Formats: sequence, structure tokens, C-alpha cells
Amino acid sequence: MAIQVIINIRQLINAGQHRPLLRGKELSTLPSVENAWIVIEDDTIADFGSMDSIPGTLLNHTNRTDAAGRFILPCWCDSHTHLVFAASRESEFIDKIKGLSYAEIAAKGGGILNSAKKVNALSEDELFNLAWKRLEEVSRLGTGAIEIKSGYGLSIEGELKMLRVIKKLKQKSKILIKSTFLGAHAYPGDYREDRQGYIDLITREMLPVIAREKLADYIDVFCEKGFFSPVEMETICKAGMEYGLKPKLHVNQLNSIGGIGKAIKLNAVSVDHLETMTENDTLLLSRSGTIGTLLPTAAFFLRMPFQPARELIDAGCAIALASDYNPGSSPSGNMNFVLSLSCIQMKMLPEEAINAATINGAWAMELENQSGTITKGKKANLIFTKEIPSISYLPYAFGSNLVDRVMISGEWLQ
Ligand code: NIG
Ligand code: FE
Repeated sequence: MAIQVIINIRQLINAGQHRPLLRGKELSTLPSVENAWIVIEDDTIADFGSMDSIPGTLLNHTNRTDAAGRFILPCWCDSHTHLVFAASRESEFIDKIKGLSYAEIAAKGGGILNSAKKVNALSEDELFNLAWKRLEEVSRLGTGAIEIKSGYGLSIEGELKMLRVIKKLKQKSKILIKSTFLGAHAYPGDYREDRQGYIDLITREMLPVIAREKLADYIDVFCEKGFFSPVEMETICKAGMEYGLKPKLHVNQLNSIGGIGKAIKLNAVSVDHLETMTENDTLLLSRSGTIGTLLPTAAFFLRMPFQPARELIDAGCAIALASDYNPGSSPSGNMNFVLSLSCIQMKMLPEEAINAATINGAWAMELENQSGTITKGKKANLIFTKEIPSISYLPYAFGSNLVDRVMISGEWLQ
């Protein structure tokens, strides 16, 4: 068994017992151990404690590292990404700067359909290699668990190709990965006049293969005006649930059209985006077991109002933070910047933001037993900070890379 001992850690953040899903006020409690040590056995956190009571065998262990007063956190748990895509879309970025709207860009053949054309033109290997690079980049920025969606195929072959790429990423990477089927991301051109035809394609043609090949853990629908209605979302989710896929849904990004109520009735694991919330949406969410996943970098990039994090937390909702990494609305998977934006623009406290980006993100992927806190028995997925004066400095000093080293499954990333 390989044993590693790390001593003289300024603070172990979010360390202690396993934590339940945090809601409302609970989000501001961040347990930590000051002046600490930690022991890692193979890929697992074996033990930790205070330097005051470190056993002599550990203090003198041959495989020990001196953290020299730096902080250690659990890796980020990014519970909403679209990181399998074929090409960036910076020409749309320029169009937007020049004043074109999201809808006008979509009408020009841009947006999700543009990404779908490109995914369908690439081979599975090409797509895998691009996604692998992105996964490596975000892991070096501290992400240790991630959810990845399909949704840029919008054809049987394209969707299966994306999901097979995600399956290969799961097999090859040490990062914890969950896979979500998002065939209902947009209606492809051929089905614009035949919406039921596309829903049938999803439910009758795609889902049986996805289930047979075990290609997905969750099902997602983009429930939005001009995309999928709440009733269409319900039909698609129910079909996915027959195959054991739980819903994790895109709702309330641009409009409030009843998606939240329906999602909660479907027992969705999470409802994601939430830029546009009514009082009733917030009330429903606060009384449910569904997690609200906020994606501040998408609001930032699209110049939209940020998600009302304060109202949601004050109402007692369970909140997670995620990057939404995708080429159209968040071409960055940097969870450190997500953390900064959530504090700067959404008035989340650093403690709330760290909890939302670690343990609650883990819950939003049902990976809470393996990640999200520094707890005995969980995976040794850890962020080592550079020298910083306090943990609040992390979101405060936005744009600086304050991640010194990252450990995934007990191994240092290079
Ligand atoms: O989560 N909103 C829908 N899907 C993505 C963006 C899709 C795109 O523009 O490629 C999102 O923001
Ligand atoms: Fe998204």
C-alpha cells in the first residue's frame, strides 16, 4: 500500500465527517482543521488531524511532504458541463459584441445547431482527443469530479458518438465523471416542423441503445421557449426514467415557463441555470429535495442578470455552483472563476461558494460518498493552494491562478 503523509497544512478546508446536502444557512458553515496533517493510502483519504496530536510515526514518515503553511481543499465538483464539443464559436462571440442577439445568431445557423453540425462531422477519436485536452486543463485548475452532457449530436449517430466519448473519458481518466444524455438540447433542422418525430427519435431510438450500452447516468432537457416545453420535457424525462436515468434539467435560463414545478414533480436531482426565477419558483425549489445549480459564468458571458443566489439561499434552497463549460455560453471550465463570480456578482459568502462548488456539487452528481469533502474513505482528490493569507483570498483575487498542485486519486498532476 502506498502511503503519503502531508504535514504543516495551514488549514484543511471542508474537512470532517460526511456532510448532508446543504441548504439555506447551512451553506455558510465550512468545517476546517487548522495546522493539520493528512494521510493518503493509495487513492483514498485515510486520516487527518491537528499537528498538535500527530503520531510520531507520521511525523517521521519517509514519504512525507511539508505543505509549508498552505491550504488544502477538496477538489471542485463541477456538476454541469458540455465539455465534449467539436469547435469553438468565437465568431458568434464577435457577432454578439457587434450587437446581434442569441436568437439572431441562432437564426443565422449559429448556436447549438452550429455545434451539432461540427460534432457530426468529426470522428469519435477526434472528438475524444479534444475533450481529453479540456478535461486535463480543468483538472489542473482543481476539478476532481465532473458531469458531462451530450446534446451537440442531435442525431442518433451524433448523440451516441458523444456519449461513447464520455464513456471513454470515464474509463481513461482518474477524475470522477458522470454522463448525461441531452438529446433534447434543440430541435434539429429536419424536425423543426415535426417536433413529435424528434421526441419519438429520442425516446424510441436513442434511449434503448443508451440503456443497453450503459452510456448515461442522467437525462437532461433544455426546457425553454423556442426549445422544449415543460410537457415535452416531462414526456422525455419519463421515457428516460423507465431506463433508470434520473433527470438533471436546464430550466429558467431565459424564461419561467413552469419547468421548475414539473422538474420537482419528476424528482429531478437538479434544476440548472435559474437566471429567471419567480417568487413561486423559489418557493417551490426551497420546499423540494431538488438542488438548484447556478452557472454564473454563463450569465456573465451572455451579459444576462446573474442568478439570484442570495434570495435562493435565504429561502432555504440547496444550491450548487457549476461551470456550464460549453462553446456557446461559457467557453471556460475554470471553477476558480465560477467561485469568484458567485461572490462578486451574486453576493455569496466565500464559505457558501466553496460548499456549493464542492459538497453540494458532489450531491448534484450523486458522488457525495466519494468526493466533495475531506473525509476518511473518500477519494484523495485535493487542491493545494499557493501561499495565500486566508481562504477568502481565493474568490477575492479573481483571475490569479492560486492553485499550486492538484492531487487526483492520490496522484499529483504534473
Ligand atoms: O447550458 N442553454 C443551453 N445550453 C447551453 C448553451 C448551448 C450553446 O449555446 O451551445 C447552456 O448554456
Ligand atoms: Fe448547460
